[in-house]
Amino acid sequence: MCGIVGVLGSHEVAPLILESLKRLEYRGYDSAGIATVNAGVLDRRRAVGKLVNLSDLLVHDSLAGKAGIGHTRWATHGEPNVGNAHPHRSGPVSVVHNGIIENFRILREELAAAGLAHETDTDTETVALLTRHLLDQGMTPQEAVGATLKRLEGAFALAFLFEGHDDLMIGARKGSPLAVGHGTGEMYLGSDAIALAPMTDLVTYLEEGDWVVLTRAGATFYDMAGNRVNRSVTRIQLEQTRIDKAGHKHFMAKEIAEQPAVLGAVTAFHLAPDGTDLAFPPEVDFSTCDRVTMVACGTGHYATQVAKYWFEQIAGLPCDIDIASEFRYRQPVLSDKGIGIFVSQSGETADTLAALRHVEGKLSRTIGVVNVPTSSIARETDVALPILAGPEISVASTKGFTAQLLVLLLMALKAAQDRGRLDAAQLAAKLADIKVLPGLLAQALDREDDIKTLAAKIAESQHALFLGRGVMFPLALEAALKLKELSYIHAEGYASGELKHGPIALIDKTMPVIVLAPRDALYDKTVSNMQEVMARQGLVVLISDRAGLEEAGKVWAQLAMPTVPELIAPIVYAVPAQLLAYHTALARGTDVDQPRNLAKSVTVE
Ligand code: F6R
Repeated sequence: MCGIVGVLGSHEVAPLILESLKRLEYRGYDSAGIATVNAGVLDRRRAVGKLVNLSDLLVHDSLAGKAGIGHTRWATHGEPNVGNAHPHRSGPVSVVHNGIIENFRILREELAAAGLAHETDTDTETVALLTRHLLDQGMTPQEAVGATLKRLEGAFALAFLFEGHDDLMIGARKGSPLAVGHGTGEMYLGSDAIALAPMTDLVTYLEEGDWVVLTRAGATFYDMAGNRVNRSVTRIQLEQTRIDKAGHKHFMAKEIAEQPAVLGAVTAFHLAPDGTDLAFPPEVDFSTCDRVTMVACGTGHYATQVAKYWFEQIAGLPCDIDIASEFRYRQPVLSDKGIGIFVSQSGETADTLAALRHVEGKLSRTIGVVNVPTSSIARETDVALPILAGPEISVASTKGFTAQLLVLLLMALKAAQDRGRLDAAQLAAKLADIKVLPGLLAQALDREDDIKTLAAKIAESQHALFLGRGVMFPLALEAALKLKELSYIHAEGYASGELKHGPIALIDKTMPVIVLAPRDALYDKTVSNMQEVMARQGLVVLISDRAGLEEAGKVWAQLAMPTVPELIAPIVYAVPAQLLAYHTALARGTDVDQPRNLAKSVTVE
C-alpha cells in the first residue's frame, strides 16, 4: 500500500527510481511521482494513474538530479489527482509517505494559524508543512525531522529530501515498513527489499520508531527517543526478489501455475528429511495449549476459516478465528495457555499487526504464518513459519492462499500429534494424502480450457453465488472474493445449508450458482441444496469429481475435478476458483494483476 523509494546516487536518479517504482506498483497505482534535488534545487513530476503515465511525462519533461525520492500511491486522504499525488512539497521540503497521519487535522489548523495553509486534501502534506515550519525557525533538516516525528500520530514510512542539500535524505518508520539499501558511494531507501533489489542486496530494516539520516557515505540510525542506535546489515536472497512473469501473460497466471512447486516445497520444508514426521521449531508445541486463536484479513482469513475445521476435527482443539480489523477492537477472552496464529502473506497488514500487538502478554505464544520472512509480523511473533511462496506480485492472492492452507494443515497435524490424537500410522496416512498434492494441483491446472469455457458464460452475469459445505464453505467465500475483486461481478459465498434462510430469494434464471462439492461425506447434503436452486431455475455450475458429477445428473454447467482425498480437497479446489476468476476477468477485459481500487500489502487500517 503506497510504495516508497529514495536514492542518493552517483548518476541521474529518475530512471532508477522509476525502475524501482515499477517493482512497487503492486502496492498502489492511483498516482505516482518523483522529486529530485539538482544542484541544490528541488523539483518534481507527478502523474495520475499507473506508473506508465509518469514515465510518459518524464519523456517529455525530464527531471535531472542525482538525489531523489519516488512514490506510487494508493489513495487514503484525497482523490487521486495530481495535486494529491506525492511527493508533497512545502518550500524547501519534499516528502513521500506510506500510511496515515491520524492527527493531521489538528496539525493543519496549527500550521494554518502560523501562516502555512494547506493546498491539498492529503494528510501527508502536513508533514511537509510542519518540517518546513521548523526549518523556518532555524532548525537543521535533521533537527526539523526529529521534531516533526515527535508530533506525528498514526502510521508512517516517510522519506524526506531538502532544497540545498544534494547529499542528504532522511527516512522514518512507524507502523509501515522501510528499509535502507547500502551501495558503493550510493545509499537507498525502499518500502521493501523488492524495491531495492535492482540497486543492492545489502539491506538494513528499520525497527519500529526508527529514523535514519543518509548521505552517500552511509547511514546514521536513531530510535524513537532520538538516541543513536546500531542496526545490522543483512544480505537479501536475490531470488526472493525476482519479479518476472516467466512467459505468462499476467503475474496472476504465473502465480497460479507455480502452486504445485510451491506446495511441494512447503511439504519438504515442514517435514523431516525422510518425510515421515513433521518438523517444526520447538515453539510450535500444542501439548499444553487449550485454545487456538487465529487472526488474519481477506484471503488469509478464509485460510484460517478452513483451518478451524482441521484444528477441531483432527486435533480436537477449540479454535477461534476472527478478522483482524474486528479482533483488534474487541476484548477477546484469551487463555494464558492459548496460542495465537497470525496469518499474513505480506506480513505487513496493519490490522493483523495491530491484532498481534493487542494480544501481547495474554497468550502462551504467538505464531506467524508469513511469506515475507523480514516482515513486521514475522519479526514480532514468537516464531514465524514461512509459507515459501516466493514474491506474490498479483494483487489477488493465489499461491499465498494455498501455501497458507498447507502450513496450517501441517500445524493442525502437529497439534493432533502433541495432544496424543495422532499415532505414527495415522500421521503416515495423512502425510500420504498431502504428498499427492502437487500432482493433484497439476491435474486441476490441466482443466484450464474447460474453466475458460465456463468463465465465458459467467462473464455475462451481473451477480453470482458460490455454495459449499464444511471446508468447502470458506472456499466458497474465497472463490466469491476472487471473482468480485478481479471481474467486478458481484459475488457472494454461502454455506449451502444457509441458502434457504434468505439468499435463495435471489435465485432466478439469470443467477449462476457455483457449487463446490467434491464427493465427500457432506456431498449428499450439498447436492440437496443444489436441487433447491435448480427447482427455482437457478443456473447451477457444479464443480466436483467424476463420481460427483455423474450422481448429480444434469446441471447448467459442470467442471470435472480429479478425485481428491478429503483432507486436501479445499487446497485443490482453490485452483478452479482462481482460474475461474482469472478467465472471467480476462473475458470482461479488467486489469487482472492490478484490479481497480486495490493494493497489495494493506498497511493502513
Ligand atoms: C485477496 C487478497 C487480500 C489479502 C489481504 C491480507 O485476493 O489478497 O484479501 O489476503 O489483504 O493480506 P496479507 O495476507 O498480506 O495480510
